[in-house]
Amino acid sequence: MKLKSQDQWLGYVLTLHFPSLVLWGDLGAVALDNGLARTPTMGWLHWERFMCNVDCREEPDSCISEQLFMQMAELMVSDGWKDAGYEYVCIDDCWMAPQRDSLGRLQADPQRFPGGIRRLANYVHSKGLKLGIYADVGNKTCAGYPGSFGYYDIDAQTFAEWGVDLLKFDGCHCDSIKHLADGYKYMSLALNRTGRSIVYSCEWPLYMWPFHKPNYTKIRQYCNHWRNFADVYDSWESVKSILEWTSSNQEKIVEVAGPGGWNDPDMLVIGNFGLSWDQQITQMALWAIMAAPLLMSNDLRHISPQAKTLLQDKDVIAINQDPLGKQGYRLRKENNIEVWERPLSNLAWAVAMRNLQEIGGPRSYIMPLASLGQGVACNPSCFITQLLPVKMQLGFYEWTSSIKTRINPTGTVLLQLEGKNRLHQKA
Ligand code: GLA
Repeated sequence: MKLKSQDQWLGYVLTLHFPSLVLWGDLGAVALDNGLARTPTMGWLHWERFMCNVDCREEPDSCISEQLFMQMAELMVSDGWKDAGYEYVCIDDCWMAPQRDSLGRLQADPQRFPGGIRRLANYVHSKGLKLGIYADVGNKTCAGYPGSFGYYDIDAQTFAEWGVDLLKFDGCHCDSIKHLADGYKYMSLALNRTGRSIVYSCEWPLYMWPFHKPNYTKIRQYCNHWRNFADVYDSWESVKSILEWTSSNQEKIVEVAGPGGWNDPDMLVIGNFGLSWDQQITQMALWAIMAAPLLMSNDLRHISPQAKTLLQDKDVIAINQDPLGKQGYRLRKENNIEVWERPLSNLAWAVAMRNLQEIGGPRSYIMPLASLGQGVACNPSCFITQLLPVKMQLGFYEWTSSIKTRINPTGTVLLQLEGKNRLHQKA
C-alpha cells in the first residue's frame, strides 16, 4: 500500500474530512483530542509477566488466551482494582492467528481465543471495564505475527467492530523511518475515522531514537501515550535505567506531557519477583511523579497483600491522576540522593526523594523547603503528608525550615505538600 500521509496531506484530510478530530493546545503542545486519556491510562497489560506464552497445553493458566483476560477482568472488579481506577484490560503481542482471514482481516488464534475478540470485549465491558489490543505498524509484530502495514484502515475498522477501547501499536519490522512515522500518523487517523473511542498507545519515539531525536510536538498530535525507552523487565536494573533515561532526557520530554498525551515509561512490575519492597515503592512513587500510564503487568490471581495495597494506594494514584496533568521532573541529585517534584492542582506539590546508594542502611536527608516547587511550594508555610513508604501526617512547616527524612537503600520517600493558605480556605 502506498501511503499518502505527508504532513500536508494529513492537514488537508484532518480539516476537511474528520471534523471530529479537534486539535487541542492549551499546553503549548497540541494534543490529539479524541477526548481520551485526560489523565494517564490505568489498567493491566499482559506482556512483562506473561510474554508470548502460547503453550496452553502445558501451561493453561499462563498462556495468552481468552481465559487469562477473563480471569484478570473478574479479579479487577472483585479485588478492588477497578474501584482504585484500573480500567483497561490489555492484550499484548501473540494473540493473533498466524494468518489474516480470506478478507485480509486479523483474526485471533482460534484455539486460544475460541470466542474471538468481540466476545471477549463484550465480557470485559459487562464488567464495566475496557479492552486493549496490540498490533504493529510494520510488516510483522515483534513476535512475528501479522503486521498492519498495508492494512491500517481494515485493522482499525476490525478493532472498532470488535469493541476494542485501546490499541497498543508497536514499531517492529518497519522498513524505513518514513514508513514508521507515516504509519503511526495514518493509524491515528484511521482509528479516529472509525468513530469509536480508542486510546492510541504508540511506541513511535522508541523506534525513532536510533535515527534522530523524535519530534514530540508532532507525536503528541497523534498519540495518547508513547514509549520512549526500552522494555521494562522485572528487575531493579531495568526500573533504574528507565528512571535514569527519563531524568537525563527530561528537558525534551516533560513539557510535552499533559491531558490527552503522556510519556510512557512502560509497565508497573510491582507484585512480581524482581523488585525488593523498597524498589516497588520507588516504582510506584516515581510513576506517579512522572504522570505515567499505570499499566500493571503481574498476576492478579497471585499477588501479595502488600503489593496490592501499594498498587491500590489511593493517595499515590491521586498524584498520578492529578487533573493539572503536569509531569514531574528530577530537581536535583546530590550525594547519591535524588529529589523529584511534580506540581499538582490547587498549588500542591508531590516530592519524591530517592536513596541511590546501594551499600549501607537507611540514610538521612535534610531538605530545605524553600528549594522546592520553584520556591513557592511551601511559601509561607505548608502542611506535609508522607505518603510512602507509609502514610503519616508530618504537620505544618515554615518556608524557612527544613524537613528531615530517612530513606532506605534503593527506596523512596514520597511527600505531598499543601500550602497553608489553601488549607485554611478549605476549612
Ligand atoms: C516490544 C514492545 C513490548 C512488547 C513486545 C511484544 O518489545 O516494546 O512492550 O509489546 O514488543 O512482542
